[in-house]
Amino acid sequence: MTRKKPVITIDGASGTGKGVVGQLVAKQLGWNLLDSGALYRVLALAAQKHGVSLENEPALQVLAEHLDVQFKATETGTAPEILLEGQNVTHDIRTEKMGNAASKVGALPSVRIALLSRQRAFREAPGLVTDGRDMGTVVFPDADLKIFLTATPEERARRRYTQLKEKGINVNLGSLALELAERDRRDQERSVAPLRPAVDAVCINTDHLTIDQVVEHIMLEYRKIFSISH
Ligand code: DC
Repeated sequence: MTRKKPVITIDGASGTGKGVVGQLVAKQLGWNLLDSGALYRVLALAAQKHGVSLENEPALQVLAEHLDVQFKATETGTAPEILLEGQNVTHDIRTEKMGNAASKVGALPSVRIALLSRQRAFREAPGLVTDGRDMGTVVFPDADLKIFLTATPEERARRRYTQLKEKGINVNLGSLALELAERDRRDQERSVAPLRPAVDAVCINTDHLTIDQVVEHIMLEYRKIFSISH
């Protein structure tokens, strides 16, 4: 039997920096990247496009099973272009509205099952770095290295605010903090694949760390596991 390709999972709540950290780690290693949240966001956008209610689980399951989504790599390890039914939705899925809608569709058990094999298919040579909520607990329970990022709700709201502003998306810090709290609660309390660290995850509190320091910490853990001395 051939050995399974190596995987590093990076889980955490919104605003912990897992997206950009995942991109940088994948780039350093020259590995593939899966932003699993983008899949849930694309599904939420597809539901909106096709007039499917976020409460209609059977219809959302069918939509998830047939989701015509493509991740078009631009350069190894950098954020890919995301196409829904051939249309570029890379920016459309990044709004807080789509984040909240993604959290709602992500709470539905049959939707999660429908997206499982699609996520596992990203496990290609030479390896995979993936970020999300349940990458280490459910999707890749046999991952070589599992990271769980944390930060206080205030710090996460502040980071999201800056990130959205930079993308030209207008938001109010107070309502953003409330929406994040609501999304956290839903992601943590759902019955399937709730946001929580895997028992064998390395937890990193990112409150007082720069993105580069978090990446370096992960690379140290990676070198330990793969016995690389440099
Ligand atoms: O990581 P993100 O903010 O792009 O994710 C958006 C939502 O998608 C998140 O609030 C919950 C859902 N999600 C999930 O349920 N499971 C994942 N592995 C990733 C995201």
